[in-house]
Amino acid sequence: MKLTISGLTRSYKHKLAVDDVTAELTPGVYGLIGPNGAGKTTLMRMLADVLLPSKGQICMNGEDIRTLDDRYRDQIGYLPQDCGFYSHFTAERFLRYMASLKGIKKVEAEAQIGELLQLVNLSGERKQRIGRFSGGMKRRLGIAQALLGDPKLLILDEPTAGLDPKERVRFRNLLSDISGERIVILSTHIITDIEYIAKEVLVLRQGKLVKQAKPDLILKELEGKVWHVTVSSEKVDELERHYTVGNLLRRGTEIEARLISDQQPTADAALQSPRLEDIYLYYFGETGGDDR
Ligand SMILES: Nc1ncnc2c1ncn2[C@@H]1O[C@H](COP(=O)(O)OP(=O)(O)OP(=O)(O)O)[C@@H](O)[C@H]1O
Ligand SMILES: [Mg+2]
Repeated sequence: MKLTISGLTRSYKHKLAVDDVTAELTPGVYGLIGPNGAGKTTLMRMLADVLLPSKGQICMNGEDIRTLDDRYRDQIGYLPQDCGFYSHFTAERFLRYMASLKGIKKVEAEAQIGELLQLVNLSGERKQRIGRFSGGMKRRLGIAQALLGDPKLLILDEPTAGLDPKERVRFRNLLSDISGERIVILSTHIITDIEYIAKEVLVLRQGKLVKQAKPDLILKELEGKVWHVTVSSEKVDELERHYTVGNLLRRGTEIEARLISDQQPTADAALQSPRLEDIYLYYFGETGGDDR
């Protein structure tokens, strides 16, 4: 299974949301990161074939998805960022409904629904109305829905938004279990979600794919650039003017900071081993940026 994205572009009126993205994806987990408005959802909607590109092409195993049509859609599972649920449906009924939309036979659907509810830890709530679900429960139901029909391409737009830390870990384990022969693309703002499971990280900034690399290569790139400094509180502004500064920690009259710099920023600055989280600082600056 191979997904080839070439020159994929999408604009909304005058806004270029996805700008000439080219990539090749093979089975494994891909972590899509980028600040708000970077184009993650727009890119994923095109991959899920719910939004037409303005330009460019997506091919699965060398065939254009426009030609494949249903043969493409039958192979994908998609969790939208904002998935409107049928709040009066029970979890179980919702999954039955989604299974029928995907053309899964009844007996097969029942078996899958039981398994999937267990997988996302919602077996006990299968007869509850979705309207009474918490945000995290809805997210988990959305993940189950995306997995119906055993899709070969799984597109998950912020699947862990609203999950508590325990569920987050569960989800990560679940993904590494199910990735196998599938291509999984997931967007997130939380780097730890993808740190251990992503085969590659895709970095999107202002609609452009600015980086596609294995996590350990990204870490290598940051080697020698991440510093820990301690400065007096009046020096902080100056530090922030010159460097990309991450979390500040106040200790009495002094401030400790983690920052990105090619050169040693202060005499007593200590070099740190990079963490994958630092790529946010590196690519998007202090606030993580906002591309809208
Ligand atoms: N339907 C739309 N009409 C007009 N502009 C849009 C529409 N959808 C998205 N945009 C714009 O396209 C850009 C990319 O948006 P997109 O939702 O793809 O970003 P994102 O990376 O998913 O952001 P977030 O992290 O907030 O989910 C933004 O500037 C956004 O305002
Ligand atoms: Mg989005």
